Amino acid sequence: MANLKVKFCGVEFPNPLVLASGVMGVTAAGLLKTARAGAGGVTTKSIWLNEHVGHKNPTMIGTEHYFINAVGVPDAGIEKAQEEMAKYLEKHHVPLIANVMAKAVEDFEAVVKEVTKLNPDLIEINLSCPNVEDEFGKPLACSVIKVAEVVKLVKSCTDKPVIVKMSPNVEDHVGIALAAEKAGADALCCFNTFGPGLVMDLETRMPILANKVGGVSGPGIKPLVLKMVNDIYKAVKIPIIGTGGVITGNDALEMMMCGASLVGVGTMVYYNDVAGFAEMTTQINGWLDEHGITNIEDIIGTLQR
Ligand SMILES: Cc1cc2nc3c(=O)[nH]c(=O)nc-3n(C[C@H](O)[C@H](O)[C@H](O)COP(=O)(O)O)c2cc1C
Repeated sequence: MANLKVKFCGVEFPNPLVLASGVMGVTAAGLLKTARAGAGGVTTKSIWLNEHVGHKNPTMIGTEHYFINAVGVPDAGIEKAQEEMAKYLEKHHVPLIANVMAKAVEDFEAVVKEVTKLNPDLIEINLSCPNVEDEFGKPLACSVIKVAEVVKLVKSCTDKPVIVKMSPNVEDHVGIALAAEKAGADALCCFNTFGPGLVMDLETRMPILANKVGGVSGPGIKPLVLKMVNDIYKAVKIPIIGTGGVITGNDALEMMMCGASLVGVGTMVYYNDVAGFAEMTTQINGWLDEHGITNIEDIIGTLQR
């Protein structure tokens, strides 16, 4: 059996499949269930300093081709998140990535300082949610200047490795990635959801989501993500969590070949439950064995060689 371990920003992940933010990551129970099911790492849902109310139902709908959500990044605030993270860390099966969110650049300082106290393995800053544009305008990840500002600030308030959650909805994804790297980011998570997009109901002639628009994830976005991950891999030296449309073990292998060191897995859970993590690992092991590869890290970025 191949070695599936991946070293990422100095942290060892038992396998490269990481629960993406927003799915199962609100409670310690959800995080632990996912870890026990075979994820190599888990990410919390975005944590705000104070309670943040999301959008009204219906907030999500999916087909076999795509998934769309306008959950609106709801969260009970830092105290509740600290409670849940502490419970997870007591049992600590696999590395924990604490994902944090704030409205403006300066608001990241307090939430990052609070989250750091809990000692997660890494911190991910969500600069890229496309379904709260009504509330906050264009995500910070759409601006080279704002990305650099927020990364510099966050790096000055934590000793944890900092991952920038990138937006695919930008003109120049490579330019944004380079700006994050130059400002001191330790890693990139590519990407958040696409869009916003819109799904219609033919009979009422109305959008299905109460928020009308939402972020698109799942199988349909995978080819776009593979291409953009590869573009960024070619340009930066920091490692990448390739996230978007990964449902199977083979999808994860493709993502790694394009340059991802770790692979984020979100929407898969809606299709296959957390049991999907073990199925993905079995498929990955099968492919590696078949091709005589003994160490999964050897396939990272092979498209480039
Ligand atoms: C229901 C739902 C909620 C999400 N919430 C968050 C969130 O709170 N913070 C965040 O950074 N990303 C969030 N995301 C984005 C995912 O982490 C991921 O980047 C995106 O869905 C693409 O990966 P996937 O196709 O594997 O789902 C959410 C995605 C979904 C489907």
